[in-house]
Amino acid sequence: MDRIYLSSPHMSPHERALLLDAFDSNWIAPLGPHVDAIEKEFAAVVGAGEAVALSSGTAALHLAMILLGVGPGDEVLTSTLTFAATANAITYVGATPVFIDSDRDTWNMDPRLLADELHACARRKKLPKAVVVVDLYGQCADYEPIREACSRYDVPIVEDAAEALGATYDGQAAGTFGELGAFSFNGNKIITTSGGGMLVCQRSDWAQRARFLATQARDPAPHYQHSEIGYNYRMSNLLAAVGRGQLRVLEERVSQRRANYDFYRRNLGDVPGIAFMPEHPRSRSTRWLTCITVEPTEFGATRENIRLAMNAENIESRPTWKPMHLQPVFSGCRVRGGAVAEQIFEQGLCLPSGSNLTEEDRLRVADIVCTVGGCTPATLDARAALLPKRRAA
Ligand SMILES: Cc1ncc(COP(=O)(O)O)c(C=O)c1O
Repeated sequence: MDRIYLSSPHMSPHERALLLDAFDSNWIAPLGPHVDAIEKEFAAVVGAGEAVALSSGTAALHLAMILLGVGPGDEVLTSTLTFAATANAITYVGATPVFIDSDRDTWNMDPRLLADELHACARRKKLPKAVVVVDLYGQCADYEPIREACSRYDVPIVEDAAEALGATYDGQAAGTFGELGAFSFNGNKIITTSGGGMLVCQRSDWAQRARFLATQARDPAPHYQHSEIGYNYRMSNLLAAVGRGQLRVLEERVSQRRANYDFYRRNLGDVPGIAFMPEHPRSRSTRWLTCITVEPTEFGATRENIRLAMNAENIESRPTWKPMHLQPVFSGCRVRGGAVAEQIFEQGLCLPSGSNLTEEDRLRVADIVCTVGGCTPATLDARAALLPKRRAA
């Protein structure tokens, strides 16, 4: 059986044409017309004033910390349920992350716990320098109360929208809810440049400074002169060409990922012990990854049993993120709450969710989940629709 991946790259004919254009024009060297173009196109897609094309989402987060003046001795509040890059970027500037638990309704940062932590910080007379809010698995956090709490204490927000390009909250695009937003185009994201990222903001002076820092902080002089420490963080022209092609099919990719979720939901939604990551009423998730939780006593097996059974059938699935407050490297950091994220980690599984999955792939996945739990899929509509095609093949 062919391997089914968790989330593999999905190219359209546009990417090939644009990549060849970049190649044939000999703009192989860093920067070039495709970088300028992707910045404009990306800013228009998400409705941001400015976009800066970078080598990774992690680079975008790092530059966001620098732009906000975060430094040694500062604290930065962030979601505990996330990928390590979010918290790592905070440490790159010498600051300390403080972790906030998830809200059950979104799996994202709990706005009440954030407000409590900000209140406690204010009483200690040490407010955090920033709050990095993560939009997990394709869904925006609950921004109205989060923004309210942060503006009460005048603390800026950085939105880590690495996993949420294409998502909205109250119709507004992910990545635009903070002073700065970060996106990732790594290989498993909803669109990819193989590796890359984008920093967005409204302020053009910040965008200019981000471009300056990302190109080794070179002063304007004919020789190489530097008055500040810089970074090699710019996106290459070749990768920007690929990204422009991917951007054109973003909406299609969102629909395809949401269709995966709909399929799994239809076929596994009634299985006892299986629950899906909730979609907040104000949010439109991209369902970048379809995530389930498995309650072992009701289901009759654990999420690890499912993961191993899938692995034996050449299917990739992945436990949900291990919370940062449980990571050995962050063991000394403060955490507010934590039990919700811990439970999501213990019971959570990300199912194969690529926009290029076939109906047959999704059936294989749903079949295994049902077999492990000793039940039958709630609906057989998809299987019935497939049968004639299988016979014909
Ligand atoms: C939540 C989150 N933040 C940051 C990143 C880092 O992005 P990149 O891999 O492009 O550096 C990722 C994914 O890789 C992510 O999932």
